[in-house]
Amino acid sequence: MSRAQTIPPFHVMDLLARAKQLESEGRSIVHLEVGEPDFATARPIVDAGIQALRQLKTHYTAATGLPELRQAIAGHYQRKFGLVIDPRRIVVTPGASGALQLALSVLTDVGDNILLTDPGYPCNRNIAKVLGIDSIDVAVTADTQYQFSAEHIKQHWSEKTRAAIVASPSNPTGTLIERDVMKALVKAVADAGGALIVDEIYQGLVYDVEEYTALSLSDDVFVVNSFSKYFGMTGWRLGWMVVPENYIDAVDRVAQNIFLAPPTISQHAALAAFESATDEILQRRVAIFKERRDYLLPVLNEIGFKVSAQPQGAFYVYADCSGITDDSFQWTKDLLEKEGVAVTPGIDFGEFEASTHVRFSYTRSIEELKRAMCRITRFIK
Ligand SMILES: Cc1ncc(COP(=O)(O)O)c(C=O)c1O
Repeated sequence: MSRAQTIPPFHVMDLLARAKQLESEGRSIVHLEVGEPDFATARPIVDAGIQALRQLKTHYTAATGLPELRQAIAGHYQRKFGLVIDPRRIVVTPGASGALQLALSVLTDVGDNILLTDPGYPCNRNIAKVLGIDSIDVAVTADTQYQFSAEHIKQHWSEKTRAAIVASPSNPTGTLIERDVMKALVKAVADAGGALIVDEIYQGLVYDVEEYTALSLSDDVFVVNSFSKYFGMTGWRLGWMVVPENYIDAVDRVAQNIFLAPPTISQHAALAAFESATDEILQRRVAIFKERRDYLLPVLNEIGFKVSAQPQGAFYVYADCSGITDDSFQWTKDLLEKEGVAVTPGIDFGEFEASTHVRFSYTRSIEELKRAMCRITRFIK
């Protein structure tokens, strides 16, 4: 079988297509399956993009990105975390997706493997497949906040393992890695002679707890980030990665060859992402996401779901539905057909206990969340 044929479908995309079809037939659908903010990109960022277009800034930039943007990202780390990061270590990418491809490209060879959490962000294992590397999907539970512990790393690392990927906050669980656990992960991976890739794409979308970055613990981690989620720029396809000093050159060369450059207009727009006027808008949105989470969690528990680890970030709740169904895939399909509510089945995030879990995205207003909860309650009954 060719490599491409081994890439599984993203089931939620089929669900989304069906939801759109039902909508076109006049049905009312509540979308709790979508993994992107419902808010449009903040106005100052859009205006900066329009201005860049008017000024005809339409050519390639350097493969590692606009120097001003790399500098601005360094400034962001300085302001937010008091960290001095050399802009040479910052590479601007086509989304976190581009960053993950670059990281795996420079860290692995065909036949190597990487450690991933199950449940976890599905594209990682498929990027690995495309690159001809294997992923070892390690079952993680609420006992470790659905995250790796150092013991997981020690237990599953083999001679062929080159890297482990973690995401904090995580998709689909919204859970964080505590600072001490991250420290232990950094050490366990370093002791094994490999690389730790920390996906911080949901940074900024964190509720009730103080944030940190893995960069404050080590200069040897690969830290992935993006303008998609907190900055609300999913469609602009822009992210970044902070790489260890000794990988700057390799990452640059791979980026030159597979992307040439990240999108120019998006980079000019993103310069406005760090302005204080933008931050005020984005901070208000964080408060709204928190309100939605605080509404959703108790209601889900009341109507029969179980949320075993408190989601403290992103905009997801990963809920155990074993009290309702043991076939969450079929259940999500039936829920959409009968009640017009779209949620993502566990199978999209791995295999471990997938059939008894679903993911809710709170990327819709509280009114819509309420409507969805009424319909789901009726559906369960
Ligand atoms: C954990 C995680 N990493 C990476 C991505 C890719 O995001 P993008 O390429 O839009 O930056 C996503 C998107 O949902 C995600 O959830």
